[in-house]
Amino acid sequence: MGKRIGIMTSGGDCPGLNMVIRTVVSHATITYDWEVLGIPYATQGLLERKASTLNLHGLDLHGIDPLLSMGGTILGSINKGDTQSQAKDIIAGYEALELDALIAIGGDGSLAILRELASQGNWNLVGIPKTIDNDVAFTERSIGFDTAVNTVTDALNRLTFTAASHDRIMVVEVMGRTAGHLAIHAGIAGGADVILIPEIPYSLPKVCQKLQELRKQWQRKFAVIVVAEGAKTATGEISCYTDSLGEVRLRGIGQYITEQLPVCSPEQVDTRLTILGHVQRGGIPSAGDRVMAAAFGKAAVDLVAQEEFARMVAWRNGEVVSVPLELVIKQSPSLVSPQSGLVQTARSLGIYVGES
Ligand code: F6P
Repeated sequence: MGKRIGIMTSGGDCPGLNMVIRTVVSHATITYDWEVLGIPYATQGLLERKASTLNLHGLDLHGIDPLLSMGGTILGSINKGDTQSQAKDIIAGYEALELDALIAIGGDGSLAILRELASQGNWNLVGIPKTIDNDVAFTERSIGFDTAVNTVTDALNRLTFTAASHDRIMVVEVMGRTAGHLAIHAGIAGGADVILIPEIPYSLPKVCQKLQELRKQWQRKFAVIVVAEGAKTATGEISCYTDSLGEVRLRGIGQYITEQLPVCSPEQVDTRLTILGHVQRGGIPSAGDRVMAAAFGKAAVDLVAQEEFARMVAWRNGEVVSVPLELVIKQSPSLVSPQSGLVQTARSLGIYVGES
């Protein structure tokens, strides 16, 4: 008998999710002749028993596949809510929808919650990693990261020209939560002069020294400083605020650096701050994210066929593999190692990345 599998996107959206959904529908329906139920708004959909059958024809637009290039998620997503007190009802939703398995596309937070629900409710769960932060353990890449790196790189290219035209220092705050993957990748690709990430302490005098060096050695009066939202102040504090819903959000480190530069710099520096914000989560998915989305979607469906559950598909050494969700959750978030080749590469380009 054919299976009935559910698919959901959970946590913050990112480009590439729709391509995963499309691949899961295509592989599950064409290769295996299964039914795929799209569960809207992740656990909310289970709670409300809301789901509808997805078929390839229904996802097309006059024969054109819009999902390839569409950002966001057609299923909707949530990254907050009290799943604990509603656990019983959410768990019962899986039964009520008569699912044989659930494929969940999420970051480490969502996957941890879903794995807990799955073990309590005996669900057959397979995870697919997504996040522009790229901080899910045991996978070198998560869906959305490549596109976000391109988006930030593009922003840095644009900011460099305006910085150069006005001899300004551009401070650019980028997302990434407690990890500096996005900042360091885009900083290198976009020609930043300074990259500050949560994993590596820095000194403000050294940042200013770098700006002075640029002036003296290269007669360059402009510079671009990339700062990850989770980078700490020089005295080790995290910059954050509590939003109207009571959630703590990272924000403010870019402002702090912008305000500190004139203090430590002997020259008068004209500084501007750009907080890229949710622009980094949008846009057309890159080719890299689309290929990975297709590979992950296919592998997740195959795991269901092989009845290998409580696992997450992962990208390791250029291949799709799968790893136990339990290990992923234990090891996440995966951070930038200060000793990594990437950090050394940044330094070899003359970028100040903190410490030394
Ligand atoms: O985890 C992805 C991410 O975009 C982080 O980089 C960022 O800190 C957070 O989500 C923002 O969350 P929200 O969309 O709830 O503001």
